[in-house]
Amino acid sequence: MKYQVNEKGYYGKFGGAFIPPMLQPNVKELEDNYLKIIQSEAFQKEYKELLQDYVGRPSPLYYAKNLSNKYGTHIYLKREDLNHTGAHKINNTIGQILIAKHLGKKKIIAETGAGQHGVATATACALMGMECTVIMGAEDIKRQAPNVSRMKMLGATVKPANSGSATLKEAVDEALGYWMEDPTAFFLIGSVVGPHPYPDMVARLQSVISEEIKKQLKEKTGKENPDTIIACVGGGSNATGAFYHFLDDEEVELVVVESAGCGVNSGKTAATLHLGKEGVLHGSKTILMQDENGEVIEPYSISAGLDYPGVGPLFAHLNDVGRIKLISVTDDEALNSAYELTRIEGIIPALESSHAVAVLSKMKFKKDQVVVVNLSGRGDKDLETYMKSLKDYE
Ligand SMILES: Cc1ncc(COP(=O)(O)O)c(C=O)c1O
Repeated sequence: MKYQVNEKGYYGKFGGAFIPPMLQPNVKELEDNYLKIIQSEAFQKEYKELLQDYVGRPSPLYYAKNLSNKYGTHIYLKREDLNHTGAHKINNTIGQILIAKHLGKKKIIAETGAGQHGVATATACALMGMECTVIMGAEDIKRQAPNVSRMKMLGATVKPANSGSATLKEAVDEALGYWMEDPTAFFLIGSVVGPHPYPDMVARLQSVISEEIKKQLKEKTGKENPDTIIACVGGGSNATGAFYHFLDDEEVELVVVESAGCGVNSGKTAATLHLGKEGVLHGSKTILMQDENGEVIEPYSISAGLDYPGVGPLFAHLNDVGRIKLISVTDDEALNSAYELTRIEGIIPALESSHAVAVLSKMKFKKDQVVVVNLSGRGDKDLETYMKSLKDYE
């Protein structure tokens, strides 16, 4: 497994654990135990049962005939939008809550951007009877209001992060602060970011997506590998899940989609891998958007889940060694593709996932090519934003 984290917690030169001394015991406890727990029979049994009967897995691999006709190729959608709570995030939260339970934790702290991770965490906490605090940027609380109501209904306390651009980065900053105040809590991270072992732990919990794609493609086409897999990247968890079991199959093209916001060079963007430089963000060495003084540049994206100035260390590495193809998609392109998918396939995608779908109109495909798009979530939470652009589309 060429692209796995090493014993020191690094992917090539990226990763590691850059954390204040107060948090070191927590992170060390997790590092010493996460693999043992994940590989134990008891964990595997409970995790697999919950993924099947509670989350609704396996999620379908849907052959999108109308989309395939339009682009003259074979397009499959991995339907993470059909999971309980509406996105891939639940695969990870169910796994981490079980790990927290094995470690004897009772309180959960989580950050959220689009609110999907917050909802998935609040859901897992309700199921396991744990106390749940979710930190969310004040700006995201406004633009993802339906998810805030869901979290409250599920019994979580939602705390606003007001500093900076009041989006995902600030939510992670402040969640780390709350964790320092209460180190007995378990920090349930929503993406493949943070100090080691979080990126590897989340990658393993999301890898069920690519495990299923292999099996489902084999059943449908006779071959387990597609030619191309496309996924959007905020921190990188849905893309990691979709790519995981294909990373070493170098003939499979892996396409990573970043949010260009108003344009990569507009100054209002979240195209981290296009513009970023090496630095440390939220406990790991990675690529992040920063100015000449090393100050983080505030990102911008119409999509709260992609509005992040960094990226998980695995993606910094995959980009560094040329294993991924990088494409950026603007707000307008994402909005158009959301309408296109809705009108020709009857599927309303999350704004994040719309970025992945938009790549279909930006790449050239062969007639017999097999393309999988990871549809990371559903668009219920984004209806207000979609309605604002309805007139432009029609
Ligand atoms: C539906 C959906 N897709 C994608 C993302 C981006 O996160 P990640 O890159 O970790 O998959 C989010 C984040 O909130 C999301 O809600």
